Amino acid sequence: MGTVLAIETSCDETAVAIVKNRKVLSSIVSAQLDLHRQYGGVVPEVASRQHLEWVNPAIAQALAAAQVDWTAIDGIAATCAPGLVGALLVGMTAAKTLAMLYQKPFLGVHHLEGHIYAAYLSDADLQPPFLCLLVSGGHTSLIRVQDYGQYEVLGQTRDDAAGEAFDKVARLLDLGYPGGPAIDRLAAVGDPQAFPLPEGKVSLPEGGFHPYDCSFSGLKTAMRRLVAQVRQERAVFPVADLAASFQYTVVRALTRRTIACARDYGLETIVVGGGVAANRGLRAQLQAAAEEHQLRVLFPPMQFCTDNGAMIAAAAVAHLDRGRYSPLTLAAQSRLPITAVMELYASRCQPGPKMLIQGG
Ligand code: KG4
Ligand code: ZN
Repeated sequence: MGTVLAIETSCDETAVAIVKNRKVLSSIVSAQLDLHRQYGGVVPEVASRQHLEWVNPAIAQALAAAQVDWTAIDGIAATCAPGLVGALLVGMTAAKTLAMLYQKPFLGVHHLEGHIYAAYLSDADLQPPFLCLLVSGGHTSLIRVQDYGQYEVLGQTRDDAAGEAFDKVARLLDLGYPGGPAIDRLAAVGDPQAFPLPEGKVSLPEGGFHPYDCSFSGLKTAMRRLVAQVRQERAVFPVADLAASFQYTVVRALTRRTIACARDYGLETIVVGGGVAANRGLRAQLQAAAEEHQLRVLFPPMQFCTDNGAMIAAAAVAHLDRGRYSPLTLAAQSRLPITAVMELYASRCQPGPKMLIQGG
């Protein structure tokens, strides 16, 4: 078991963490929210520049907070895909440079694999196989984790990701960016039954509906119409009821598909990952449904649901333990399916300094 320092810069968080096995020694997250809020979303060029300014101080802070120096670090990791290429490049270049400087193995990590590994940080005994509901700002998938590094996508969204739907609906409700946490807070005081909304189902050519795929674009359109209508008809805008009704519909869609998938595939453990895993409605409803069906559901600690370095480090530790490392030529990629994770690593061998550089 090893100790990894990992850098995450795939979007708008500059994050660095040090993880020893499954224990987080330090986790530094500098969110760029205020910088991007004025634009209503992440501006890639602005994000890259900010990463460049913040990455070195974040590395220094992570080492200081963990009270370790480079001799305690067995590997240096960075998110390499998917994400904003310019932003990814900052973290990867920093990690590769440190790997060369301190003669340590470098590991590129798939961002979504990191989100799956966030749950490992809350359970020292978690082992595959299990089902992962991955719900972030860019992805919504049901993934069967067969073994370490072995993934099969069983269901996914056909249009918007769940987090994206939260963000777009929050904008409709004038709640700003990012929308998920704001809707979550309001939903807690609203009536989820106030406005019945359609749960997007995905039709199959042979008839019936896909059991695990979902769609949020119809729900978003329904919300847009509803908001316009309510604004016209009501003196007081029922923002909490709208937020609660929307959240209830999304959570019900996710819960139904996740439970059906786990049962059909005989997977007794469900792991949730991604920013939307922080949603209190999802945590409560999925937990209740899982208990009803004698399934176990595991959520990451709150601070490791949204983007962070600890989840990237946790995934890198698992690969490092299996003798894997990445060549220094590894490129940042805006897209990469999670099923291609093993392409990021060289096969079992002991990385020495020469090989690290030649492999690059
Ligand atoms: O995983 P993440 O930090 O970044 C991506 O990899 O996309 O997820 C960010 C997403 C955003 O869409 C944000 O609105 C959503 O996660 N989110 C939430 C909550 N906290 C963050 N959505 C619903 N409820 C929350 N509490
Ligand atoms: Zn993420």
